[in-house]
Amino acid sequence: MSTELDLRWFGPLPKQLTFLRSPAREAVYAGGFGSGKTLSGGFKALLAALEHPGTVGLVGRQTYGALRDNTQKVLLEGDDKPPIIPPELVATRSEKGGTSVTLHNGSEILFRSFQDWNETKLLGPNYGFVYVDELTECTEKVWLAFLSRLRHPAGPEQAWGTTNPNGHDWVWRRFHPDSGQAESDTLLVHAPSEENVHLSDTYMAWLRSQQPEWQKRYVDANFDTAAGQIWDEWNRTVHVVPPFEVPYQWTRFESLDHGRRNPTAVLWWAVDPEGNLIVCDGYYEPGLVEQHATAIKTTRGERKWPPIVADPQVFTRGFDGQCVNDEYQRHGIQLQAAANDVAAGLNRVSEWLTRRAGEVFPDWHPYAGTLGPDEQGAPRLYVIDTPGTQDLRREIPDYRWRDLSPSQADKTDEPEEPRKKDDHACDALRYGVMSRARPWAPAPLRTDDDPRERRQLSVGLRDRSF
Ligand SMILES: Nc1ncnc2c1ncn2[C@@H]1O[C@H](COP(=O)(O)OP(=O)(O)O)[C@@H](O)[C@H]1O
Ligand SMILES: [Mg+2]
Repeated sequence: MSTELDLRWFGPLPKQLTFLRSPAREAVYAGGFGSGKTLSGGFKALLAALEHPGTVGLVGRQTYGALRDNTQKVLLEGDDKPPIIPPELVATRSEKGGTSVTLHNGSEILFRSFQDWNETKLLGPNYGFVYVDELTECTEKVWLAFLSRLRHPAGPEQAWGTTNPNGHDWVWRRFHPDSGQAESDTLLVHAPSEENVHLSDTYMAWLRSQQPEWQKRYVDANFDTAAGQIWDEWNRTVHVVPPFEVPYQWTRFESLDHGRRNPTAVLWWAVDPEGNLIVCDGYYEPGLVEQHATAIKTTRGERKWPPIVADPQVFTRGFDGQCVNDEYQRHGIQLQAAANDVAAGLNRVSEWLTRRAGEVFPDWHPYAGTLGPDEQGAPRLYVIDTPGTQDLRREIPDYRWRDLSPSQADKTDEPEEPRKKDDHACDALRYGVMSRARPWAPAPLRTDDDPRERRQLSVGLRDRSF
């Protein structure tokens, strides 16, 4: 039948459009409260059912209550808006084993919760598409089982989910580019609540008045939120910037954490004219000094570089009188010892990551000239989203304090220590930052009171140009 639908109330938002149009086999719309998750997932289901007559699709959610009261309701009955699936498209409706509807074009949509799901049910029919609302509530096992059933001849053989992020769980690993293990043919759309311009100002203001940690997960839709994070100031949407041409004249330096058995991590830094630190590139490989040196020289190109700020251990001589530094030197790479006070370094990185009230974002940042969507101001340290910085971006949110054993938990005067696990790029970050002045160092006395200029001066004093 022809589809003379009045869907004018649905003006897809840019991120919703990307999601709706994506041909990826697996897609996730990770969003904040009210960011239009259910609407995106629901409309993708309607489009799939209309474009693939005779297909069978499943719309699911972990708990039966949430399925009935929210997801299914938004699709079939309408909540505060008309139903996503216009009643005039529905030929029959059945309540056997859960609600299902058949459209006039022969497509069938089943609504199911996974609460009392078992293998037989799961391995039941073949599906043309599967939509899971609040995906992080279900297990990867369920998701994989659905993928294995995506073989209805009518197509489109796509599965998608919409969800609030839930830390570094299976959804993050499977879909997030920072996990380094994202599956191929997957799409992740990230939508903070602000993405939905249809939300009322009052509701948005309420969301933004909640606890910062809560906002990070439920409003910013950030995956980097689990207890014990050392750098919990880290907020991907603020600190990670899309690649841009870094002007040649900006100050550069490098930092290195040498791994004997572990990977060696190198970071390439730039300092913008306002003194902001930008990690532009990185290297992260196990191997011999010779290999590292070759890689470093390739990334360096023609430019002259000062000695690399490195883990002081590289200067420690073994019983044979040799040290790692000698090896780098043999390959034409000069090193210089970094300050290696761990506590001070961790703290210093936090200072650089901290956002300052009233501080606007630099002009090369997507939030240029603003205080950011939540008006919390700009930090001073950024990481460019290039493949080279991937290990750094993966390690930072996973860098955790060592858990105190129950017997130690009350010894609150115990110094806190990082858990020893994949912290090579974090160490290189610490060395790099420790080679700089403090980000908000008190300004030297001056009559001029333009804060920007003052900052430039205080940082400029430390930044020799190479
Ligand atoms: N593109 C859109 N056009 C009109 N209203 C929208 C659109 N996207 C979302 N909404 C409305 O915004 C509100 C939140 O959307 P919803 O999909 O329920 O968000 P979530 O599932 O992320 O909490 C609902 O009232 C919904 O109708
Ligand atoms: Mg929803």
